[in-house]
Amino acid sequence: MSDNPVSNGPATPNAAVLNAGGKEVPLQVRSGSVGPDVIDIRKLYADTGMFTYDPGFTSTASCDSALTYIDGDEGVLLHRGYPIGELAEHSSFMEVSYLLLNGELPAKDELDTFTRTICRHTMLHEQLMQFYRGFRRDAHPMAIMCGVVGALSAFYHDSTDISDPNHRRISSHRLIAKMPTIAAAAFKYSVGQPFVYPDNTLSYTGNFLRMTFGVPAEKYEVIPAVERALDRIFILHADHEQNASTSTVRLAGSSGANPFACIAAGIACLWGPAHGGANEAALNMLREIGTPDKIAHYIERAKDKNDPFRLMGFGHRVYKNYDPRATVMQSTVREVFDALKVTDPVFETALQLEDMALNDDYFREKKLFPNVDFYSGVILSAIGFPTTMFTALFALARTVGWVAQWNEMISDPGQKIGRPRQLYTGPTERAYVPLDKR
Ligand code: SDX
Repeated sequence: MSDNPVSNGPATPNAAVLNAGGKEVPLQVRSGSVGPDVIDIRKLYADTGMFTYDPGFTSTASCDSALTYIDGDEGVLLHRGYPIGELAEHSSFMEVSYLLLNGELPAKDELDTFTRTICRHTMLHEQLMQFYRGFRRDAHPMAIMCGVVGALSAFYHDSTDISDPNHRRISSHRLIAKMPTIAAAAFKYSVGQPFVYPDNTLSYTGNFLRMTFGVPAEKYEVIPAVERALDRIFILHADHEQNASTSTVRLAGSSGANPFACIAAGIACLWGPAHGGANEAALNMLREIGTPDKIAHYIERAKDKNDPFRLMGFGHRVYKNYDPRATVMQSTVREVFDALKVTDPVFETALQLEDMALNDDYFREKKLFPNVDFYSGVILSAIGFPTTMFTALFALARTVGWVAQWNEMISDPGQKIGRPRQLYTGPTERAYVPLDKR
């Protein structure tokens, strides 16, 4: 696992000069290997007594990272330098997991060893399976994932010393390995079927499909085309720079919290409809629109400032061009439909909605394009997942990104607890007023 400390990028010769309150403050400008330079403001408060102000962190780099690079204007996504389109076409989720964790594509023996190691951790402690019985059958799978993943730290005391690289390695492997088992069990519990234990003769993704859709009464055959499509969907969701849930994991980890607790925090953040919950919301929206003749009405609603409705699966904080993951997702829809010999009119609605939105001035001016969540629900629904499972699948895949980012942060010698400041707008100091005087 790549524990190389992430050093600050080299200082560039050009510096920035800030004129703050009549005082000129020189600020270093640092460059990464590619992408925007950064203005190093770490000494700004000490030098000026002022904070920067950036709610939502639209112009803030929170860390150094060597994992994932996104160029939002060009629609570029690289994992350790490899374009997402090439990884989706040629790689596997296990190989991309190894790449994110270790920094390089594995040789065959390295990949085999890594895959075997992950397989060895797919089972859950039998007592942890009892946790599910405490939930209502109609509990949202993400509520279950938050609870069960957070509870992992109550079972694995032997791998929570974050200062020990071996503990970090074992807990990372445990998290990646157990997420499919936890997610599949959440689905089984919701439909009243018995849990299906892992079968490690199957691939990572094939194992997940069998644990989800297999039943003890029948032999389950993994459909290769579905296994390949789902494995590719996992690749597309593996990591994505410093998005909201990854930043949550990093912030939780910066306090020294154990990795299981940090990933549970990431799951909670991912659940929001503005983030990972958008895949569930996007398919629900497409089904609500129903037929293509209703699209224009919903596009007008999305443009209406007085209407909270937004096109779910559209827009992105970073991509102001087509999300490269959505491109792969759209072509995967046809693959799955052909393999399962199914169609879904909602796909036609999605295609026409995309076409109409991309030809509308409002969406063009605001650079709103389909994102990773726009088509994923169509595929997952065709495979047989209920919409409530979509974000759980996103969390399953994103766990490797969260774990890789957590490892990168923990092993950075410059790492410190994250503690932003604020612009205070409340009352200035005032004397307490006794009750009988109010
Ligand atoms: C993910 O960060 C990541 O990398 C996330 C992710 C990952 O892999 O981790 O890529 C996964 O979360 C993808 C995004 C999924 N969310 C959705 O699809 C929900 C719908 N999208 C929006 O909520 C929105 O686009 C966000 C949250 C994704 C981005 O919001 P921003 O960057 O804060 O942009 P914004 O809200 O400031 O929008 C800019 C303008 C606004 O109009 P004005 O105030 O300038 O007039 O665009 C409008 C918004 O009203 N707008 C939309 C819109 N998204 C933005 N209008 C209609 N429909 C939309 N979907």
